[in-house]
Amino acid sequence: MRAGVNKNIVILISGSGSNMAAIVQASRRQHWEERHGARVVAVLSNKPDAPGLSLARELGLATTALDHRGYPNREAFDAALIAAIDRHAPTLVVLAGFMRILTSGFVAHYAGRLINIHPSLLPAFTGLHTHQRAIDAGCCFAGCTVHRVTHDLDHGEILDQAVVPVLPGDDATTLSARVLSQEHIVYPRAIERLLANEG
Ligand code: GAR
Repeated sequence: MRAGVNKNIVILISGSGSNMAAIVQASRRQHWEERHGARVVAVLSNKPDAPGLSLARELGLATTALDHRGYPNREAFDAALIAAIDRHAPTLVVLAGFMRILTSGFVAHYAGRLINIHPSLLPAFTGLHTHQRAIDAGCCFAGCTVHRVTHDLDHGEILDQAVVPVLPGDDATTLSARVLSQEHIVYPRAIERLLANEG
């Protein structure tokens, strides 16, 4: 991560933005600006109607929506996304429920400063439907993983994890709610550790 006092964090979302809000609230509660020179400066979404965008505005953040359906291919969308993100000169780009496969050009552009949260205990259950697959596999435990983003989907260096039990009678909805409550703890914690260690 680039050293300096202005560490801009840009968060990318596609949905409800609860991880984004948890990160923003932690950054304020834990005074990241004073302690690490870091603050969340913008929230971007590929879905103009993502509820997380209104939540971000309520939190006083700049928001941008770039509808991926308006671009002819992934490369064109990712190029526009890079331009929108780079306006904020980010030290860290945080994927928080950003449900797009990224091009290798995008991943290379943000090498070393791109992280994601995935709702499973990686390396188990990469990809989608992680909670149902954990239940179907008879797992006793599930969880979430914060990891660096590399060219290999859901395979970058693991930065932090949280574990929850899979309880009798769980379905994907109840299990995902239990995991999500841990995501809200583990994602801000992992980011703060990166800011502190790589400052
Ligand atoms: C979270 O559970 C996150 O782990 C998951 O999407 C949800 C977003 O919730 N991400 C992925 O599945 C990425 N492959 P949120 O919008 O409330 O933060």
